[in-house]
Amino acid sequence: MVQENLVWHEVLVSRRMKEAQNGHRSAVLWFTGLPSSGKSTIALSVEKRLYDMGVKTMVLDGDNVRHGLCSNLGFTMDDRKENIRRIGEVAKLFIEAGVITMTAFISPLREYRDAVRALVGNYDFIEIYCDCSIDVCEQRDVKGHYKKARAGEIKEFTGVSSPYEAPELPEIVLKTDTLTIEQCSEQVVQYLKSAGILSNTA
Ligand code: ADX
Repeated sequence: MVQENLVWHEVLVSRRMKEAQNGHRSAVLWFTGLPSSGKSTIALSVEKRLYDMGVKTMVLDGDNVRHGLCSNLGFTMDDRKENIRRIGEVAKLFIEAGVITMTAFISPLREYRDAVRALVGNYDFIEIYCDCSIDVCEQRDVKGHYKKARAGEIKEFTGVSSPYEAPELPEIVLKTDTLTIEQCSEQVVQYLKSAGILSNTA
């Protein structure tokens, strides 16, 4: 729906001014992967490293956001698409705020993730694939959901009865089934330095 009678206000403090004050660029680090592939764990670990470096951060996590902003959404493909659309819009706002935002959502279809990439722009969108075999995810079964899904107690569960499409050209692939959390979060920080999002000296 196109809104009428709205006027976009120009800001006095720009994104570039905020980034300059912060001493780093803003960006969205979009973690994607199967349930129990390590998205939230690594996002939180990256956030801790960045915080310790004095970087302004925010983490948006599927389970948390679904308690509030997206509490009216379930797990049909339409609802997941709307979930990801909202998170994309929120991430875009945080980019304007000069913040490095980590999002940890399954975001199962390429189409959903590509829509966010188009929304925020390629320059600011870092897609991070938590590459973990379904067997390892299922062994971990952090929340016991795979077991319930196999028993038919959770319908349309990603990886079991609902699709997951791995990214084709993500900026970062984390081998979360073989590397440690520390190795994965270090890999992300190194990427941010080499991409000029963090200064090399930070
Ligand atoms: S997404 O598909 O819309 O991106 P999101 O990341 O927000 O999913 O939520 C995933 C979390 O919801 C999982 O970590 C799990 O705790 C919970 N969940 C509950 N039901 C399902 C389901 N059917 N499929 C996947 N995750 C589910």
